[in-house]
Amino acid sequence: MTATPVGMTYADYLNLKQLLGAQTPLSDLHDEMLFIVIHQTKELWMKQLLHELRFAVDLVQGDRFAEACKAMARISRIQAVMTLSWDVLSTLTPVDYLKFRNVLGTSSGFQSEQFREIEFRLGLKEPNFLSQYQEGGKERAALEKALGEPSLREASHGALERAGFDLGDGSIEAIAKAWLEVYRDSERWFDLYELAEKLVDIDDALAGWRHKHVLTVERIIGNKRGTGGSAGAPYLRATLDKRIFPELWALRTDL
Ligand code: HEM
Repeated sequence: MTATPVGMTYADYLNLKQLLGAQTPLSDLHDEMLFIVIHQTKELWMKQLLHELRFAVDLVQGDRFAEACKAMARISRIQAVMTLSWDVLSTLTPVDYLKFRNVLGTSSGFQSEQFREIEFRLGLKEPNFLSQYQEGGKERAALEKALGEPSLREASHGALERAGFDLGDGSIEAIAKAWLEVYRDSERWFDLYELAEKLVDIDDALAGWRHKHVLTVERIIGNKRGTGGSAGAPYLRATLDKRIFPELWALRTDL
């Protein structure tokens, strides 16, 4: 605990001078502020999401399921707010966006370190994305750390193993078989069953965020190429099938 400074104000506590001084549009166009604020608020929510995610992984590793579910419920709510905020951004018309799009240069949400860290810490560990970040830089180091630490996916497999499920070589089939058993006897394995449904909530919400992103992108720039150099909406559409827990989706068919 840090002692409360004498006479501390609301603005002091929240560092508002820094926070509210961090919006620096490069054009004098009205809508650029919205574009900046939406990105910054999403980065703040991602910061909170990562804070909860690291906590949830630790709790699952300690078989503290009720507390882990509480943290994961918060993660899903944060994701819901992040998804809803696309509706504010979609008030940006293609005409108004094109007026300042050039100021973005080659910057793109594709470079969001926190987004990639969330994917890694959930379990979508794709080391190829590291090459986006400068070697020896802070962002690269954060992502390398996340790659080396247990993800929520890996933590959930640990929980299955501690409960006595044999995951063998960790193949998709072995994991799917274990989860299927949990769902087939959900009363016996209630903790794991509840955990699994929270994992699906998070996966579902991430897919929802991706869908709404691509829809907003199509609405604003159609099929133009992205500022980050990708094909744009076609690239984003190709990410829509990504799932962190494919086994938990597959078992719905097999139940
Ligand atoms: C006018 C609004 C937006 C447009 C037109 C747009 C467009 C795009 C495009 C075309 C890409 C593909 C990479 C590229 O070539 O640039 C991309 C990726 C991405 N954008 Fe956006 N975006 C917008 C708003 C946002 C906002 C508000 C966020 C919030 C942080 C965001 C986060 C991301 C992320 C995380 C990726 C990488 C997705 C992945 O690789 O799976 N974008 N965006």
